[in-house]
Amino acid sequence: MNETTARNRTLEDAVADVEARYSAAHPKSRTRYERALRSMPGANTRTVLHYDPFPVTLVNGEGARVTDLDGHRYRDFLGEYTAGLYGHSEPAIVSAITAALEDGLVLGGPNPYEARLAELMCARFPAVELVRFCNSGTEANMMCVSLARASTDRRLILGFHGGYHGGLLAFPGRGTSPMNASQEVVLVDYNDPDAARRAITEHGRDLAAVILEPMMGGGGCIPAEPEFLAALREETRRQGAFLIFDEVMTSRLAPGGMQERSGVTPDLVAFGKYLGGGASFGAFGGRRDLMARLDPRAPDSLTHSGTFNNNVLTMAAGLAGLTKVLTPEATIRLNDSGDRLRERLQDAADRHGVAMRAMGLGSMICLHFQSEEIRRPADTEATPPEARKLFQLEMNLRGFYLSRRGFMSLSLPLTSEDHDDLVAAFEDFLEEHAPVLPGR
Ligand SMILES: Cc1ncc(COP(=O)(O)O)c(C=O)c1O
Repeated sequence: MNETTARNRTLEDAVADVEARYSAAHPKSRTRYERALRSMPGANTRTVLHYDPFPVTLVNGEGARVTDLDGHRYRDFLGEYTAGLYGHSEPAIVSAITAALEDGLVLGGPNPYEARLAELMCARFPAVELVRFCNSGTEANMMCVSLARASTDRRLILGFHGGYHGGLLAFPGRGTSPMNASQEVVLVDYNDPDAARRAITEHGRDLAAVILEPMMGGGGCIPAEPEFLAALREETRRQGAFLIFDEVMTSRLAPGGMQERSGVTPDLVAFGKYLGGGASFGAFGGRRDLMARLDPRAPDSLTHSGTFNNNVLTMAAGLAGLTKVLTPEATIRLNDSGDRLRERLQDAADRHGVAMRAMGLGSMICLHFQSEEIRRPADTEATPPEARKLFQLEMNLRGFYLSRRGFMSLSLPLTSEDHDDLVAAFEDFLEEHAPVLPGR
């Protein structure tokens, strides 16, 4: 037993100890945080980026590295919650953005990039016959829901407990967020095909759509089971409701996204994150007959506006990413490397007698310190929040940037040496803290 472990007889002691060392190591981030408290609620403009005692302030990113205000350089395994797939300075993307910038901003008309990006997305994603762009994943999901409502003349949406589809469309815990734009929602448990079938049948006549992530990302990297997806596809079809896949995160998990990997074709899909090459991005697409309702040439067309929907920086960056960097082979390689990393992390925890479940698929990983099975977000409550905090702050002090939740997403510039170093740092963390973490 080393000195720190000897001091830390409980998980709470270990957390108090790491928190003190973390605070001492980041005085400038703390000062910036305290000043920001004066002008922003909780010093924050994006809830997910808050963690206690205060988050580090990032000042620079290069490849798969980020640097904080106190000069600490981290290997970035958070990958901006999947949006950072290309890393922080991919040359093809930087030069595409620079070229677009030189041609002028806010042009106020169609540009040469948007339809080319649209063509690539239609070719890549099997459910997408026509696509439109917007500014965020939130907007993309809300557009899918609105389009389903307008097309069916029904209002109700079926979602899943713990689902996250954006700040205005979230189902935390066992209810809906009071911040949601609409509360006309029924919720059932993820990966429960019988409950979903019953709810879809019961509400059939009022149900516009079922919305889900084919793997819950923020919910803990929980893959949908095949029979669950099959039941949703069959039952929505039977009731004339639409199936919406939120692939804002998961579209990176195969060249054609989870809609390809699962073999289940939804009616509408929401996209976001990395597909804008690192700039603000959202897109939604799907069946031609549904998307065609947005065709402004039709007398009864539906309106979809957005000043920045086709902004040249995003369009150019997204196009460069898909044409020059993210080939189908690169997608497969990245996800294979994630599968190997997940196995190595699981193996390390097993060898140290620590209860842990490394969840996820491919390049998305979430670590939960528990032995209980995980099929839906509520199952992850078995992990003590203090274990998540200990893990994140200890990994920060070892030079690895990842989320409080234990979530990681891999970026293309991460090397196999970076993976080796992450595993070594995790082993070191386990070596020191196995006695206070949940045991197997
Ligand atoms: C699955 C999922 N859907 C939607 C969103 C919302 O996307 P945005 O933050 O771009 O609005 C997110 C963001 O984390 C997400 O993870």
